[in-house]
Amino acid sequence: MTYILGIESSCDETAASVTLDGRKVLSDVVYSQADIHKKYGGVVPEIASRNHILCVTQVIEEAIGKAGIQKEDLSAVAATVRPGLIGALLVGLSAAKGFAYAIGKPLVPVNHLHGHIAANYIANPDLKPPFICLVASGGHSHVVEVTDYNEFTVLGATMDDAAGEAFDKVARVLGLGYPGGPLVSKCAEDGKASIPFPRPVQGLDFSFSGVKTAVINHVHRLEQKGEPIIKEDIAASFQAAIVDVLTSVTIEAAKQKGMKKIALAGGVAANKCLRTSLMEATGENGMEMYMPPLSLCTDNGAMISCAGYYAYQSGMRAPLSQNAIASL
Ligand code: KG4
Ligand code: ZN
Repeated sequence: MTYILGIESSCDETAASVTLDGRKVLSDVVYSQADIHKKYGGVVPEIASRNHILCVTQVIEEAIGKAGIQKEDLSAVAATVRPGLIGALLVGLSAAKGFAYAIGKPLVPVNHLHGHIAANYIANPDLKPPFICLVASGGHSHVVEVTDYNEFTVLGATMDDAAGEAFDKVARVLGLGYPGGPLVSKCAEDGKASIPFPRPVQGLDFSFSGVKTAVINHVHRLEQKGEPIIKEDIAASFQAAIVDVLTSVTIEAAKQKGMKKIALAGGVAANKCLRTSLMEATGENGMEMYMPPLSLCTDNGAMISCAGYYAYQSGMRAPLSQNAIASL
């Protein structure tokens, strides 16, 4: 029996979780700072670090308590080491180091995006590599070929903005608030996708900065002409552009690789429109679709614990001198 404690602090969620043998979640504690950053319209790195410091120990203790195990039962401590906000990452990683050292167990480094992909293993006990995974979060958007539990090949990626970043920026332009993804999505429910925003794709790479600029220009034009700004239609049209691009590159990647299994990961995976679009497209192409429940799409500790389990099994270890790394 392998119990792994997973610790996540790469952005504005302080999270810890204990899993058993990778896929059974015994506890999953997430403390979100979203309400704190809301008033600034986005995550303020310095404030994020300070708030991680305030609650990281409590979140870890709660995760172990809820799992109903003793610290000594843990096989290893896994922590997100990259990518993310450097100050935020350092808090979770330092806590993980101290904890691992105190209980005399190894420290396992986890890439945050591998964690997002691993959320699919928790939700689908039968899912095994290889498969194609669309990873769309606030900072990254990639089409990944998952060849094995610890082997990944990036097939396509955004050439500029990440999908979540585009959602957050458009939410700001429309005055909807933060975090933008869920608010744009909610607003879009009452709108018509009637505005043809651009959908640039080059092979398996794509771009979202043009869509964002097109939304900004569209709003400015309406303002200058004194015409009404129907936020709902703009949100629905923007969302349709993003979803079309992400769906088409994912299906194309699967076709090119002859892959029949597709998974979805990252905060943007919580988008209902994207989930429906991929379900339909995979169905039409005779492919199987896997996606985590909404709670496992946005940042959490269970996905880090699960990815940590597979890294631990393959012998991956981090020294106590392990640094956090902001980049992918
Ligand atoms: O994966 P995540 O929690 O953090 C990062 O690793 O970046 O993703 C956060 C991103 C934010 O940009 C947020 O606006 C977006 O995911 N997001 C959504 C939805 N829920 C969260 N985007 C679109 N639709 C949603 N329902
Ligand atoms: Zn994330």
